[in-house]
Amino acid sequence: MRGNADHETTGLYPVPADWAARAHVDEGAYNIMYETSVTAPEAFWLHHGQCIDWFKPFTKVKNTSFAPDNVSIRWFEDGTTNVSYNCIDRHLATRGDQVAIIWESDDPGHDIKITYRQLHTHVTKWANVLKSQGVARGDRVTIYLPMIPEAAYAMLACTRIGAVHSVVFGGFSSDALADRIAGAASSVVVTVDEGLRGGRKVPLKANVDVAANKLAGVVTSVIVVKRTGGDVAMTVGRDRYYDELAASVPDDCPPEEMGAEDPLFILYTSGSTGKPKGVLHTTGGYLVYAAMTHQYVFDYHDGDIYWCTADVGWVTGHSYIVYGPLANGATTLMFEGIPTYPTISRFWDVVDKHKVNTFYTAPTAIRSLMGAGEEPVKRTKRKSLRLLGSVGEPINPEAWEWYHRVVGDRRCPIVDTWWQTETGGILITPLPGATKLKPGSATRPFFGVRPEIVDAEGKVLEGATEGNLVIAESWPGQMRTVYGDHKRFEETYFATYPNKYFTGDGCRRDADGYYWITGRVDDVINVSGHRMGTAEVESALVAHPSVSEAAVVGYPHDIKGQGIYAYVTLMTGEKSSDALSKELVAHVRKEIGPIASPDLIQFAPGLPKTRSGKIMRRILRKIAEDEYGGLGDTSTLADPAVIDDLIANRQNKR
Ligand code: PRX
Repeated sequence: MRGNADHETTGLYPVPADWAARAHVDEGAYNIMYETSVTAPEAFWLHHGQCIDWFKPFTKVKNTSFAPDNVSIRWFEDGTTNVSYNCIDRHLATRGDQVAIIWESDDPGHDIKITYRQLHTHVTKWANVLKSQGVARGDRVTIYLPMIPEAAYAMLACTRIGAVHSVVFGGFSSDALADRIAGAASSVVVTVDEGLRGGRKVPLKANVDVAANKLAGVVTSVIVVKRTGGDVAMTVGRDRYYDELAASVPDDCPPEEMGAEDPLFILYTSGSTGKPKGVLHTTGGYLVYAAMTHQYVFDYHDGDIYWCTADVGWVTGHSYIVYGPLANGATTLMFEGIPTYPTISRFWDVVDKHKVNTFYTAPTAIRSLMGAGEEPVKRTKRKSLRLLGSVGEPINPEAWEWYHRVVGDRRCPIVDTWWQTETGGILITPLPGATKLKPGSATRPFFGVRPEIVDAEGKVLEGATEGNLVIAESWPGQMRTVYGDHKRFEETYFATYPNKYFTGDGCRRDADGYYWITGRVDDVINVSGHRMGTAEVESALVAHPSVSEAAVVGYPHDIKGQGIYAYVTLMTGEKSSDALSKELVAHVRKEIGPIASPDLIQFAPGLPKTRSGKIMRRILRKIAEDEYGGLGDTSTLADPAVIDDLIANRQNKR
């Protein structure tokens, strides 16, 4: 109950005394370091750039331009290093026998502990297997794996030989996988026979087959890890089991010397328009930023057991399961399963089993567990927990309070970390030893980050205010380009507010200077913490032969944060029915994956359009949100009568 009196009078949760004493930075130190980081960035990053080992030290710190038609971002550019060296080799002398990865399988009776020395052996083998398949420096490797240690081995092996990985979330369909393989022109794909989640098998290899067959000639090698031992089809000359390949390659593989700005990985993410973008991160700046944020935000100390529940298919898994923790020599837990299997206490059972100190998850998980009440949490001990984290979407204050009170027994600060695939690492966040907390606020900027709130015209708003969130200066973890399309990078992020990075998020700043992310202001929605472009779901829907037009918006959903609401106009002569509605959902799952399934489909004879034919999504959003009062000006509509029909046939939220 420490400090709750303060909370009752001020609404702030103070830094617990034990945290202020142990933390790397307290409030005073944060203020000084932050000030230095923005007034003297060169000196600041010259110093903090040393948190990784360099083969050749850098002499140039920063060389960046946000000029809209000439965006160029380079950090530590004349230094050389290697990511797998930093995540593995440099720890061997001091912590070779320390556990690097705890793997908790779907089955609660099975786990594996991998030491740094064992990690080294696995990754060098993997690197040689990749080489045996012709992978060389600069080549792209697609990794389509579930949450098994081999995902980390394969990623690190790519970095060891200078190959660029593109991890595709295992929940994406074969069509979505094919798009990403083609986008990265990746001839080698790493996958598994079958994944295992909540006791159910997931046919990943079969999905790869469909994707590879669709892309005649692109994929020349599929490396298959055995997880279930299931009987899967193997195409002769293309598909090989990892074990067989590993048996005939050498053990040793020295790390390649990579330039700081050499590409490290591509990760596809959704935008407001078009197909997903390949976000490109590079070597030096990304690793410095991932390692440093992991150390300060989670206040990492030697011996901490750290668990991030994300999937490696998302950026959170890249930065805060694999690269940040391993660069810091931490013990990182990787969980194959789901929070509700075999029981709804699974997260907390795992915390007790492995004595987890730091637990980092998404609000959607908290909200769904809240629904089952306190007992499944309270029957576990959770004594080891010291710090809780949240990421991926705004956390509503009720969920924050529950997480704090029930999961953390009021002992554990919560770091609500705001960031994006594009940012590489956390940008706005509390530091547990330095920042008083307000439920629902991501609080203050991390070192070197200069958030600004602007109005629609780009005017910078001061003080307590609300508007669009931009970042005024580069930070080392920033994405460098959209893979193969620098123009799109410039237009998406730097054209709206020239000379600033536009985040796509709305934001409020309160009188204490705390930031509150209010959600996306573009056509990106956030469903259970998964980022989805409404345009992608629309294009999947219109690919169905019965559909003539579709418009997709988000609506507030109690558990998922946002749900997917699709308005569909059918081809002349087609009849709406429940069966067709189900068929359309199945169709979207096939085109993108289960995460894109519409929650509600409304058949609409007409959509609200301007006279020039543009769909007025603002109106569709309001109808989906059940807020007819806020429809605003509808006089510019070509046919105002469509609104009445849309309202009369609105689908109820589930
Ligand atoms: O809208 C913000 C939301 O997630 C978006 C980024 O999604 P993605 O690139 O998939 O990365 C997710 C994990 C970093 C942001 O534009 N978001 C992320 N974290 C928060 C958040 N919204 C509010 N609070 C957060 N802590």
